[in-house]
Order: sequence, then structure tokens, then C-alpha cells
Amino acid sequence: MIIGWCFICVFAVLINKVCLQVTVEAVIGGSVVLPCSSAEHDLKLQDTVVYWRHNDSEIVCDIVKGQDSVTLQNHQYKNRVKTFPDEYNRGNFSIKLNNLTHTDAGEFICLISQSSDSNQETVQLIIKVCLQVTVEAVIGGSVVLPCSSTKPDLKLQDTDVHWRHNDSRIVYDIAKGQDSVMLQDQQYENRVKTFPDEYNKGNFSIKLINLTHTDAGEFICLITDSSDSNQETVQLIIKVLTVISTSNGNNCITVCLL
Ligand SMILES: *[C@@H]1O[C@H](CO)[C@@H](O)[C@H](O)[C@H]1NC(C)=O
Ligand SMILES: *[C@@H]1O[C@H](CO)[C@@H](O)[C@H](O)[C@H]1NC(C)=O
Ligand SMILES: *[C@@H]1O[C@H](CO)[C@@H](O)[C@H](O)[C@H]1NC(C)=O
Ligand SMILES: *[C@@H]1O[C@H](CO)[C@@H](O)[C@H](O)[C@H]1NC(C)=O
Ligand SMILES: *[C@@H]1O[C@H](CO)[C@@H](O)[C@H](O)[C@H]1NC(C)=O
Ligand SMILES: *[C@@H]1O[C@H](CO)[C@@H](O)[C@H](O)[C@H]1NC(C)=O
Repeated sequence: MIIGWCFICVFAVLINKVCLQVTVEAVIGGSVVLPCSSAEHDLKLQDTVVYWRHNDSEIVCDIVKGQDSVTLQNHQYKNRVKTFPDEYNRGNFSIKLNNLTHTDAGEFICLISQSSDSNQETVQLIIKVCLQVTVEAVIGGSVVLPCSSTKPDLKLQDTDVHWRHNDSRIVYDIAKGQDSVMLQDQQYENRVKTFPDEYNKGNFSIKLINLTHTDAGEFICLITDSSDSNQETVQLIIKVLTVISTSNGNNCITVCLL
């Protein structure tokens, strides 16, 4: 009998958890609205607490009984979060994040907690923010494709970097600090410039010269660090979306940091 009740209890908790995933794309330096709405029809603001979190733990803001609270806010978000109090009564607790930086990438969670008559509703929304940098280049010109490791104690002798285009084409490899073009696709022959002086800083950006239309697509920079059987993999996806040729031959290249 006791076991039976436990099952019912766990089941009820699972049913009340709704998890939606939304991917939002934004531009570094720009702003983004992170959506979050309650599906509850008779939402009572005085019974509602909304928790906005980044990467599980960082406190972005709280909305307690319809009032914004920034007392516990991480300083990283100070003066960068705009709320929409006029929308709260409709169960809309979306926020706007301004002056976006690289560290704003990742996962945002909006937790709506309602405790009326001991009923608790939890809505979990996972928002993946993908930041974009737009670089302009000219056909026949060149572009720096950025890629850096955030690891502070990076050891070059444990680090391998793999640059790939459209998933499989081998653009460049940097093995333990040494450039390697052994397996390089012919298409990039003599068109890739590296910056070995930067490797110690974890900067493995490359420069692609003599750009052509086929340089459109997705560039991936994969950094693998295998020290002490710990493996760190940094993946950067650079989307060269469209090569728009205007009258003066300008191309738009979009760099997407995931
Ligand atoms: C956001 O960026 C604008 C323009 O660069 C600047 O004036 C403003 O002070 C920034 N705000 C914050 C909170 O960093
Ligand atoms: C919630 O409010 C924001 C800001 O006004 C708005 O952009 C968004 O469309 C609203 N969402 C819904 C579901 O009404
Ligand atoms: C959040 O996680 C993303 C992806 O793992 C990372 O790029 C970003 O720097 C993290 N930001 C913070 C503030 O932890
Ligand atoms: C790049 O373009 C210049 C000028 O058109 C040319 O001289 C050079 O050979 C080209 N390099 C490669 C690797 O295609
Ligand atoms: C990495 O090196 C390139 C080439 O020198 C430079 O353009 C870029 O700004 C550097 N990136 C960082 C994060 O230092
Ligand atoms: C890569 O993909 C893009 C977009 O699908 C395409 O325009 C481009 O020609 C491809 N380039 C190569 C070398 O496969």
C-alpha cells in the first residue's frame, strides 16, 4: 500500500513538469528576448515566483509575486535585463537581455513556480542562445575565422585543433602546437594562414585568403585537450550563410558561436 502511494506521487510530479526547448539566435553586442509564458489560465501573481537562471545556477533575475527582484542577481547581468511587468498578468514572464557578450551563450531556464492551495506548477523552458558575429569580406579577399579556448591553463603539447568545412572537408589541423597540412583538402591549399604566436594564448584563429563562392557553409573548429585522461572539447560552428555579391563585390559572412 505504501509503495503504491509512492508511485502515484512520483507520477504526479513528472506530469506537472513541462520542458520546452527553444533556440534563439542573437548577435554579440545586440539584444535578445528570452520567451517564457505560463499556460495556467487563472494565474495568481501573488502566488507566483519566477526564477530565471543561466547555465543552471547563475541568477539572472527573479520575479516574486509580480515584483522584480535583483538582490541576488549575478553582477554579470546588472543593468542588462529588461522585464515586461505589463505582461505578468497574462502569465508572460519573458525578459530581454541587452549588450550580449560571448559568455551569454548557453542555456537559460525560466522556472515558474505557483503555490496556490499547495498546488505547485513548474514550467521549465530551456533556451539555447547562439551568438552570431557578422564579418564582411570580399570575394577574392580574406577573412579571419575566430576560435579560442577558454581554458586558462591550456597546455599546447596536449592540444589538438581540427578545422573543418561543411562537416568533413579538412581545412587545417594544429597538432600539439604544430601546423599540419598532410590531410588538407586541395581546395584550401595555400589559402590558410595560421597565427602560431597566438597558440599559447589558446587562440587558434585562422585566416582564409582568396575567398571564393564555395567558401560558404559551416566551419567547425574543434579543440581537444587530453591531459590526465580529461578531455575538453570546444566546438565552434561558423556559418558562412550566403555569399551575397553586391555591385562592389561585398559578401556577408555570418559567424555563429554555439
Ligand atoms: C550597453 O551598450 C551601450 C552602447 O555600447 C552602452 O552605452 C551601455 O552603457 C551599455 N550598457 C551596459 C549595461 O553595459
Ligand atoms: C511576452 O512579452 C514580450 C515583451 O513584450 C513579447 O515580445 C512576447 O511576444 C510576449 N509573449 C507572449 C506569448 O505574449
Ligand atoms: C554558459 O555555458 C555556455 C556553453 O557551455 C558557455 O559558452 C558560457 O560561457 C557559459 N556562461 C556562463 C556565464 O557560465
Ligand atoms: C590569390 O590571389 C592572388 C591574386 O589574384 C594570386 O596571385 C594568388 O596566386 C592566389 N593564391 C592562391 C593560393 O590561390
Ligand atoms: C586571435 O588571433 C587573431 C590573429 O592575430 C586576431 O585577429 C584575433 O583578434 C585573436 N583573437 C583573440 C581572442 O585574441
Ligand atoms: C558548403 O556548404 C555551402 C552551403 O550548403 C555551399 O554553398 C558550399 O558550396 C559548400 N562548400 C563546399 C566546399 O562544400
